This record gives sequence, structure tokens and C-alpha cells, in this order.
Amino acid sequence: ELDDELTRLDQDFWVSSQKLKDIVERFRGELDEGLSKDGQNIPMNVSWVPSLPTGREKGTILTLDLGGTNLRLCKVVLHGDEAHGEEKSTLDQEQYKLPEELKTGDAESLWAFIAEKVETFVKDKGLDKEYSTANPMPFGFTFSYPATQERVDHAVLQTWTKGFDIKGVEGQDVAKQLRDKIEEKSLPVELVCVINDTVGAMIASAYNDPKTVIGAIFGTGCNAAYMASLSDVTKLDPSDERIAAMQDTNTSTEHQKMAINCEYGAFDNSHRVLPRTKYDRQIDADSPRPGEQAFEKLSAGLYLGEIFRLILVDLADRGLVFKDQDTKNLHESYALDTGFLSQIEEDESPGFSQTRDLFHAKLGLQPMDVEIELSRRLAELIAVRGARLCACGPAAICTKEGITAGHVAADGSVANKHPKFKRRWTKALGEVLDWKKEWGEDGDGARGPIKITSAEDGSGVGCAIIAAMEIARRNKTR
Ligand code: BG6
Ligand code: GLC
Repeated sequence: ELDDELTRLDQDFWVSSQKLKDIVERFRGELDEGLSKDGQNIPMNVSWVPSLPTGREKGTILTLDLGGTNLRLCKVVLHGDEAHGEEKSTLDQEQYKLPEELKTGDAESLWAFIAEKVETFVKDKGLDKEYSTANPMPFGFTFSYPATQERVDHAVLQTWTKGFDIKGVEGQDVAKQLRDKIEEKSLPVELVCVINDTVGAMIASAYNDPKTVIGAIFGTGCNAAYMASLSDVTKLDPSDERIAAMQDTNTSTEHQKMAINCEYGAFDNSHRVLPRTKYDRQIDADSPRPGEQAFEKLSAGLYLGEIFRLILVDLADRGLVFKDQDTKNLHESYALDTGFLSQIEEDESPGFSQTRDLFHAKLGLQPMDVEIELSRRLAELIAVRGARLCACGPAAICTKEGITAGHVAADGSVANKHPKFKRRWTKALGEVLDWKKEWGEDGDGARGPIKITSAEDGSGVGCAIIAAMEIARRNKTR
């Protein structure tokens, strides 16, 4: 009976080349809809970052990152064209764990926690000696959630994603909420920009690598940014004075660009094309925002371990696995993360003793050989489906934009820590784009003219570059 179940799961989780192509086709449609109107599935958020960096940007900037695994503060020094062959940026950083209860708490506690960390960082690094409220340090905020921006230093949260559910922030300008706290505490910093992690990854990578075409995150969440032609962003009014202000004197609107944070985790929220299993439906139903982030819930790191757990719970409840064992820990929501799946897939120890140890340590279970075998197969099925789906977003952007070569600068725990992600992602991209077989594959899975590369630090360096570009723009128009 377990064999029949595995055959069923194999079928349910396999996404064929043809299915990938159908998904990319629909994806392209939704990207276009998001560019033409507000309130679509994929919001295609305008970031007000009008160009890639020149590589010459300079400055010393404080950056804050909220939205991935860690809360992080960095003092970033951009050396630009003064790097003289050395590193173009230097970083002094601290990481903090965001307490679990804050993720479902209220706005006041969130900003108070952040402001306290900023205060400590500023003091510990002696920045309060160099800067004051009259001469503040430029400050950039990477806020990796969907936000409507009227300017680069403004960001109204559309909806929380990735399991966050903090009251009093949705529909509000997070820049203002953070600024109010900074003022309350008289911190010597001035908020210059709020950016998304995907935009940061793209900008940081382009600072060093001119082949960068997309910034993508395959981590807790799943999303990407690219430079759109302003003339394609038809939801913006071309006579909007912000566009004129942004425009280079020697660039026509047709050639003027705009970084778009797609927020394509919300792709297929209307459930037209994605192959959802009963486990995906359950994750959605039990999440703080059912019906939202349909694509992300099938493909991002936050959910992969949970899908695995739900399958095991289903089989255990039906008496097919872990008979006569205490499955209490297995029944705990989000007990397993993507790291658990990676470790199972990577295990080459004799008799898979490492996997046995993992099950014991995390869940208090003693798996039998058949359960080990099943778990290895499940870890693979779930991760392969995730990686193949993750290729669809960049594939849709590239086909839509006519991009035939370049680098997809990727960051996030799935891209960086799952041992087989990049290879599987590349293979799927090749299937969608009908890449020739003879293009072969190298060790990293890099193959064909569009390559997945490791992004430079988007929420540190990328955010600092955007702040520096914004300060330069302001100085010019003054
Ligand atoms: C980090 C970036 O490396 O990756 C963040 O600096 C980004 O900006 C994060 O949000 C995404 O990965 P994860 O796995 O932490 O969600
Ligand atoms: C979620 C967020 C998005 C972010 C992504 C990766 O999809 O909504 O803003 O870019 O996760 O962190």
C-alpha cells in the first residue's frame, strides 16, 4: 500500500516540461497584467530605482534588513571607482534573531525592537560620534514584503507574506512608522530608501557584474526583480512629474528604465495552472493569509519542510508509517525546515545513519529502512518540484523581455544551501527555453546562455548603492 502511495505522490509532484511551458505562458500573462493595472495577482511593484548602478557609487551608509531568516544591520562603505582592484565595498555587520512572538505581534513592538537594535549598533560602532541628528548618517531599509511605493523612501505594505502577521502595518507606510521611532529615540540616522531584497540583489550584483539581468530570491520566500522599460509600465502615467524628475536628460521615455519588484510569489492566486496537491491546499488553509502567495507556497523554503511533514503526517495517521511510535513531534506545524530536506538528500552515510539521527533528534522517531527510503524519495520529489517551479519566474521574465543571455543573480537559503537546487533549476530553465542538448552542463549545473549566479549582498551593499544613487539624484536636482 505504501508503494501505491509513493506512485501517487510521484505523479502528483512531477511537473513535466510541457506543464512548465504552460505555467510560463500564464506567468507571462500575469506579469503583463501587473504592469498595466493596479490590484492584479502579481502586483509588479514600481520601486523608483530608475537605473542600474554605474559601479562608481560611493558613500558610507547604514542598512537594515528585515524579511529573510535574519534581521541584519550593516555599516557599508562603498568605494566605487576608488577601489583600485580591491573590494568595491566593505562591511561591518551584526545579525539578530527576530523573536518569534514579534512576527505575530503589533507594529509598536516591531519598530521598538528594530529601533533598539539600530541604537545599539550605532553606539557599538561609534557612529554616534561621527553623526548627529543635525548631520545624520544615510540609512537604507531592505523590507522584503510587497509594498506600494510612491517614492523610493516610502512603502505602504500591501499584505504580509512568509507567515508574518503583525497588526497595524498593512496599509501603512513602513518608512513613516520606522522614521517616527527613529525620531522618538533621536537616532542620528536619516532614512533615504526602502527597497525589496530582489531589487537589492539585482543592484548589488550589477555593481560588479554587468551581465546581471535579474535579481532573484529563492529563500524563505520566492520572488524576482528586473529592469523594465518605462514604456511597458503602462499603469504609470507618462506625464507623472516623478517620471520627468527621474529621467536622464539624454534618455527618452522609451529607453528609460524602472526596476520592478514583481512579487510573483502571488502568481496564480486564482489557481488556474499550478499543480496543487492536497498538502499544498492544507498549507494554504492553515496559513495566516489563505488564498495569497499561491506560487510561493509551492516553491519557497518556508514551505518545503512543511509539505514533507504533512505527507508524513497523512501516512502516519493512516497507519502506513511510524506504526506504534509517538508521532507527537511530527504533528507540530512547521517542525521541519528546508535544511532537514537538504540533509536527507545529501546523506551518503552507511545505512543512512545521518538521516536516522535527524529523525531521532528532531522528531523522536526511529525510522525503519522503508521509511528512510520513503523519506529520501519525498525530500527529492518536493525539492525537485520546487526548483522546477522556481525556474518559471525568470523564464517568464526572459521570454517576455526578449532576454536571451545573462545572469540571474540569486540569493536566499534555498539557492545557496540546497545542494542540488541550482542544477535542477537550470535543467528546468533549459526545458522551458528549448536549449540545445549539446550545450552540456558544468559542475554547478550552469548551462546555456542564461546562468544562475550567486548574488552579491543585496540587503547590505545593494541597499547602500540605492541610497547612494538617491542621494546623488537629490543633490543634482537641488
Ligand atoms: C539574504 C539577503 O542573503 O537572503 C536578504 O541579504 C534576503 O536580503 C535573504 O532577504 C533571503 O534569503 P532567506 O533564505 O533568508 O529568506
Ligand atoms: C516574499 C516577499 C517578497 C520577497 C520574497 C523573498 O515573496 O513578499 O517581497 O522578495 O519573499 O524574500
